[in-house]
Amino acid sequence: MTCSGLAARCPAKVNLELRVLGRRPDGYHELDTVFQAVDLWDELRVEPAGKLTLTCDHPGLSTDDDNLVLRAARSLARRTGREAYGALQLLKSIPVRAGLGGGSSNAAAALLLLDRFWSTNLDRSELSRLGAELGADVPFFLTGGTARGQGRGDRIEPLAFVGELPLLLGFPPHGTSTAEVFRRHASRLTPPGNGVSVPLLSGLKWPGENDFGVLANDLEAVVFEDWPELKRFRDALLEVGSRAALLSGSGSTVFGVFPGCESLRTAAGRLETRFPGWRILGTRAVEGAAEICSEGYHTSSDQ
Ligand code: C5P
Repeated sequence: MTCSGLAARCPAKVNLELRVLGRRPDGYHELDTVFQAVDLWDELRVEPAGKLTLTCDHPGLSTDDDNLVLRAARSLARRTGREAYGALQLLKSIPVRAGLGGGSSNAAAALLLLDRFWSTNLDRSELSRLGAELGADVPFFLTGGTARGQGRGDRIEPLAFVGELPLLLGFPPHGTSTAEVFRRHASRLTPPGNGVSVPLLSGLKWPGENDFGVLANDLEAVVFEDWPELKRFRDALLEVGSRAALLSGSGSTVFGVFPGCESLRTAAGRLETRFPGWRILGTRAVEGAAEICSEGYHTSSDQ
């Protein structure tokens, strides 16, 4: 049997909570965070080809060797002693440099897809280890749903799914640099946080008595200082009915948790008028992870 082509889909994430506990000797920061997969997906396809190539429908994204998808492919090839091959095509819906983990999710999808395409058959924990070398968020996308991330954010513990929370995402017309945000945060010498909140760890349910108001992101202080319109958007989300509103990761996405789809739609309309140039998108929390979504096998005639 010959594998003629495969596709994987990979979700975006938000951080329902993000605590920065301190600096690590390796230059990274010690985190305690709750990741949540959201219903916004990129797709990665692969077709047979003699060598490894990557094309992408997003003009702002480099398809050079530093692209995480190609780095994931080469890392899997090195680990398994295979030659890297395949024509990869990346179809982007997740905004870039937005704190939604798009690049990391793409890398997780590349590992899953090529592990199948090349029949290298690594187990999940090995893929996760390879993923962690590529980026701190990559292992989360192999688990998906609701999960706690500790260490650099790469030590993943699945949590009870929070349910299909309606989420309103706002992307300003610019992105942020994760490395720069962490650098600025470190220079603040803020006291370390105390880790993620107990309600998140015990499994939030919506609607319910859980207090989403306790959610926090320690990176907001520096990001809101540099980009005051992100804070204005956060405040506006609270004014138009969100139960909690937060920066996702290191930004630039700001999101709100809404009690229902109707209130979310009304809020979206009001924010579109107040924030021209922003992309405002209603979505929801999902249980999914990066996954193979279509398999195009054909049987070759035995020769
Ligand atoms: O791992 P990733 O490549 O996504 O991280 C981008 C940058 O963000 C890192 O180079 C580092 O500067 C910063 N970072 C950090 N601590 C983390 C995660 C990321 O300092 N836990």
